[in-house]
Amino acid sequence: MTRTTWLRGGSLACAALLVVLVSPSSFSQDPTVIRVTAERFTFTPSHIKVKRGTIVELRLRSEDTNHGFRIVGSGFNAIIPKRGRGEATLIFRADTPGRYTFECSKMCGAGHTFMRGTITVGE
Ligand code: CUA
Repeated sequence: MTRTTWLRGGSLACAALLVVLVSPSSFSQDPTVIRVTAERFTFTPSHIKVKRGTIVELRLRSEDTNHGFRIVGSGFNAIIPKRGRGEATLIFRADTPGRYTFECSKMCGAGHTFMRGTITVGE
């Protein structure tokens, strides 16, 4: 059911979207996979904590309609495909300690603006 398509500057019109900010082969460690589910109007989990230096692979999927996933201030913004249409994947290195807000970036209904959460990068 879930297909992962590598995205190399090609079309976004595929069932699943994989965004790689840094090529995984350049990492010396395996990514820590964190699965996040979007469903009107929450992300689960909505608070994510990782240690500094962790390579994080976020796998984003929806239990209903299309949602968006934007990490405020990062320039990262993806569409989470609707249920059954795959997932969006984001790989990044959690280099800078702090608390980062993510939010739904696609209008999905009355509670759209409440769909948010945080990623905390600890020392
Ligand atoms: Cu989910 Cu907007």
